[in-house]
Amino acid sequence: MTAEVAEPVPAQTQEELFEAVIAAEQRIEPRDWMPDAYRATLIRQIAQHAHSEIIGMQPEGNWLTRAPSLRRKAILLAKAQDEAGHGLYLYAAAETLGVDRAELTEKLISGRQKYSSIFNYPTLTYADVGVIGWLVDGAAICNQVPLCRCSYGPYARAMVRICKEESFHQRQGYELLMTLMRGTEAQRRMVQDAVDRWWWPSLMMFGPSDGDSPNTARSMAWRIKRHTNDELRRRFVDMTVPQAEHLGVTLPDPELRWNEERGGWDFGEPDWSELTRVIHGQGPCNTQRIERRRAAHEDGAWVREAATAYAGKRRAEAGTRTADEAQNTPEQENGK
Ligand SMILES: [Fe+2]
Ligand SMILES: [Fe+2]
Repeated sequence: MTAEVAEPVPAQTQEELFEAVIAAEQRIEPRDWMPDAYRATLIRQIAQHAHSEIIGMQPEGNWLTRAPSLRRKAILLAKAQDEAGHGLYLYAAAETLGVDRAELTEKLISGRQKYSSIFNYPTLTYADVGVIGWLVDGAAICNQVPLCRCSYGPYARAMVRICKEESFHQRQGYELLMTLMRGTEAQRRMVQDAVDRWWWPSLMMFGPSDGDSPNTARSMAWRIKRHTNDELRRRFVDMTVPQAEHLGVTLPDPELRWNEERGGWDFGEPDWSELTRVIHGQGPCNTQRIERRRAAHEDGAWVREAATAYAGKRRAEAGTRTADEAQNTPEQENGK
């Protein structure tokens, strides 16, 4: 939406214009007028998403130095670097809404902003790396593909590239699990154990059930969100059950049954009290994740200071050059 008008638009008209852009499936851009609550919702959501990408590097980063082969190490390194990139695109998208990245990082490490609860679980074996790729990145894809059509332009555009990389993450996870399943009995048991531990937390990645998700309706009306939490969760289960069968693992849900009428899988209810506990800081690794993030931020202070000093030096040099050029111009012209 670009309001090319000579005079300021009255508030009501601006709101109507905003609504019209949303209804026409066009994008809201950073300089456009938007309701304060729309801006605040996006800042919260994009920041939480960016924090999740960055904190999400930790569980798998745990295995970088112990990867079973050079090939696996190269794949895992590439994936962790992708996640860092996702975090950076998303912080940049949040900044277009008028917040500062330093402020968002501060809110994360002081516990005032959240990240996805899934990253508070530990990675006990290398099979966890595969299961995270398959289930956690798989759930992220279900959540994020509809965000490519989000009404806020910078967020929607960032999601296009992120989703392409997430699908690589999911495939590498599945390929790793397939390799383990073709291995020894102990390796197959290791995969099953990882699936048992990650299945329910993966289902919780879609957030509470629709009845307990008060902000969903408004986010859907603004076309930030396109589907409810329960719709996305069902979509994920329908996508994953045949993959589990092909892999030869059992999903740890005795209520999992094909529903002929609906043409989808019925499944059990996650333990919502566990999600509440983990969100409120009592997951297995909450403290460790934030402490590590804080330490990394503090250790990196010299890099930020050096970059700022260098940028200042470049600006000063550019300023001197401009002044010199201004002085030299008449002489040069005379010389021609
Ligand atoms: Fe990512
Ligand atoms: Fe990923």
